[in-house]
Amino acid sequence: MSLDIVILAAGQGTRMRSALPKVLHPVAGKPMLGHVIDTARQLAPQSIQVVIGHGAEKVRERLAADDLSFVVQEQQLGTGHAVAQAQPHLSAERVLILYGDVPLIEPATLQRLLEQVNARQLGLLTVELADPTGYGRILRDGHGEVQAIVEHKDASEAQRAIREGNTGILAVPGHCLGDWLGRLSNSNAQGEYYLTDVIAMAVADGLRIATVQAADEMEVLGANDRIQLAQLERHYQGRAARRLMAQGVTLIDPARFDLRGEASVGRDVLIDVNVILEGKVIIEDNVQIGPNCVIKDSVLRAGAIIKANSHLEGAQVGEGADCGPFARLRPGAVLGKKAHVGNFVELKNAVLGEGAKAGHLSYLGDAEIGARTNIGAGTITCNYDGANKHRTVMGEDVFIGSNSSLVAPLNLGAGSTTGAGSTITQDVPADSLAVGRGKQRNIEGWKRPVKNKP
Ligand code: UD1
Ligand code: CA
Repeated sequence: MSLDIVILAAGQGTRMRSALPKVLHPVAGKPMLGHVIDTARQLAPQSIQVVIGHGAEKVRERLAADDLSFVVQEQQLGTGHAVAQAQPHLSAERVLILYGDVPLIEPATLQRLLEQVNARQLGLLTVELADPTGYGRILRDGHGEVQAIVEHKDASEAQRAIREGNTGILAVPGHCLGDWLGRLSNSNAQGEYYLTDVIAMAVADGLRIATVQAADEMEVLGANDRIQLAQLERHYQGRAARRLMAQGVTLIDPARFDLRGEASVGRDVLIDVNVILEGKVIIEDNVQIGPNCVIKDSVLRAGAIIKANSHLEGAQVGEGADCGPFARLRPGAVLGKKAHVGNFVELKNAVLGEGAKAGHLSYLGDAEIGARTNIGAGTITCNYDGANKHRTVMGEDVFIGSNSSLVAPLNLGAGSTTGAGSTITQDVPADSLAVGRGKQRNIEGWKRPVKNKP
């Protein structure tokens, strides 16, 4: 059966106290609404309608995509009014309504909900709550059949004692929706057009309400303030950590690990505390990541070792290669098999060949460095002349003396050597020594200055 999805995201989120629209606040580095959209996509709907209002332009700008339609709700007159704005664009047999500020909803739960929907039945996602304050309550008759939803503010004392709450997420037969929405009124405690009133209308029209329960409260929790946002973040991270551990990763402390993107992992990977993985990260078998590393959009080949406090972005670390502590690999940094990068070394758009080494305090930018070449401490590539970038190319088995300045463009032939402290401005032929530094002069019997007497 065909499916349209409507995501409600027009609310202001006053309690966030933020210039950013609520649904753009991130969980795991991605806007809450982005999570909901990605989940919606997994259900293969014929359309996704996002109802926006507060901060509409910012939301659209951030999340626009070919498979999304945005509908602006100029005034936030209630959840029923919000769905009514999207209704003219709907044509599928089933319509699923999601909230842009409920980011952890799982596709599997929504599948179960959608299975309930047909021409005679709608699906309602409910949750048992320890404290249902603020939630709409599910009213059932003597046979346990759902009759209506009453909002907290409109509920009697007896109704407020009900702990089964409305998550707000529901799936309805598309052909009924327009009629129901057209009949909503706003004569209630909040003066709003409540989507929840659709339930009693459906019952009156002879439809049955099938309920599905969410796995837990967190799955359907909306973030109204930054405290709830942090709770969602922790819950998300707990889930992510358990998933990785199930795939063969040792996390020294799952509570001190953060995934802000996607990680594909091999077996026997070890991740120490306070590691953040961002974007797309590929980690092969037997990789070890030390404490306090940030690794973004990178590939770590089998057996690679990333030592403490390293920062990687857009990098590739080859089989058995190692870097850090305190290494910085910027986009285009590629470490060959068993290459070594030590502390306070920065690489950008630079390839270190197999077994090549840069042990200490270096900047290597726009460089190609041959196998087994050794870069002495303090070496830098002067790759930028103030206007353009230039390349430094080194052959195999080159030995760069400590504190060399390599002024690009530059070619250093295989087996060549530079003297420590050299400023190298010309190409160096293979197997030769280049020395470019002031010649040392010793002055014998030289007297140090003495302090003048007052
Ligand atoms: C709603 C439900 C309530 C449920 C609760 C779960 C109604 C009337 N009530 O209450 O039964 O227990 O969610 O959290 O539906 N929105 C718009 N436009 C509007 C109003 C809201 O887009 O005019 C969006 C909000 O951005 C939000 C969602 O709809 O994403 C829910 O709105 P909110 O005001 O939080 O609803 P509640 O009063 O909490
Ligand atoms: Ca709410």
